[in-house]
Amino acid sequence: MKSYISKKPVPKFLELRLSNVCNLSCLSCFMREQKLPDGNLPLDKWIDIIKQGNDLGIEECQILGGGEALCRKEVAISIMKYIKKLGLRGQIVTNGTLFDKSLIKELVEIEFDRVIISLDGPTKSINDYLRPPNSFNKIINSINCLEETKKIYNKEKPEITIISLINRLNFDYLEDMIKLVGQLGLNNIGFQITMKQNSFFEKLELTPDQKKILPDRIKFLFEVAKKHNVNVNFDDANAQLIKDYRKLFDLGSSKKPFCIFPFLYMGVHESGRVFPCPTAMDYSDNINNHTLEEIWMGETFSNFRLKIWNSFLDVCKKSCCPGTLINNLRLKAHFNI
Ligand SMILES: C[S@@+](CC[C@H](N)C(=O)[O-])C[C@H]1O[C@@H](n2cnc3c(N)ncnc32)[C@H](O)[C@@H]1O
Ligand code: SF4
Ligand code: SF4
Repeated sequence: MKSYISKKPVPKFLELRLSNVCNLSCLSCFMREQKLPDGNLPLDKWIDIIKQGNDLGIEECQILGGGEALCRKEVAISIMKYIKKLGLRGQIVTNGTLFDKSLIKELVEIEFDRVIISLDGPTKSINDYLRPPNSFNKIINSINCLEETKKIYNKEKPEITIISLINRLNFDYLEDMIKLVGQLGLNNIGFQITMKQNSFFEKLELTPDQKKILPDRIKFLFEVAKKHNVNVNFDDANAQLIKDYRKLFDLGSSKKPFCIFPFLYMGVHESGRVFPCPTAMDYSDNINNHTLEEIWMGETFSNFRLKIWNSFLDVCKKSCCPGTLINNLRLKAHFNI
């Protein structure tokens, strides 16, 4: 990895946060209490950004929202088509409630690579309490329609992954989540710990007892997943890593684990601001004033890379999530860094 870092780093992963509005009001989410202005970067600007990213060496493009990307459905579809036209790998993270038949058909036809759908409970009552209003049935219908359409057109893509926040209220139902994923004919689920984003966190934070048994629960879930032919985003080896992730941030700089995000990631938000990592929002330049290359090689990004190379920052310790550590492992392996 050192040799990668000492060479001129090349961005590999471009994240596009299309929208600051959302049709749901999830208990865990900052959107529930915070309404942000929607910058509405126009489609031609997004297309130009992806083209610039492609020229820089981007390999993967992720569409996300600060809110829900499919609230700007027309823009999202055009962007997805363009990503595939350039031959890039594309994925979208979505709440799964705004698909319609025509969008699903387009996604299957262009063989968009991956659809990541958030689902926080294995039943309507648990999920819809956490992700209101009435999202469970819409999500299940979207998944079924995607899978059926793939069969009709004899396509493998898009591959569907479920992501699920672990919290106090669904902690006892995680095994059922894995079983549901298997029943839906899917093969992938990623679990994530809920971070504090609003005042509901007190209701969602794991209890001390739940925190204590989490590593054992993770090992157990890993075994359940194997039995149901489902991949999870952790294995029994990194169960401990998840439990101790805050300690990892506190290690001295000589022994610190290293965050790869600022060395391969660029996140563009609907406001035009471009960030060097998915979490640290105090560092950004604006695409309306610079090219993507100027931003990647510029002072803000270079200084941020230097800081992260030397040690983790307060924002890492306070706001970053265990999933980032797991994604670090995935990204390092994927890009062979
Ligand atoms: C902010 S959402 C945006 C994309 C889309 N609206 C969705 O829900 O998938 C991205 C991811 O963040 C997750 N999320 C929401 N609140 C969170 C929290 N407090 N801690 C960690 N992740 C959270 C969501 O469940 C979702 O998987
Ligand atoms: S759907 Fe996504 S953006 Fe919307 S409130 Fe839920 S987690 Fe937040
Ligand atoms: S906030 Fe998280 S993603 Fe950003 S540099 Fe720190 S550890 Fe990496």
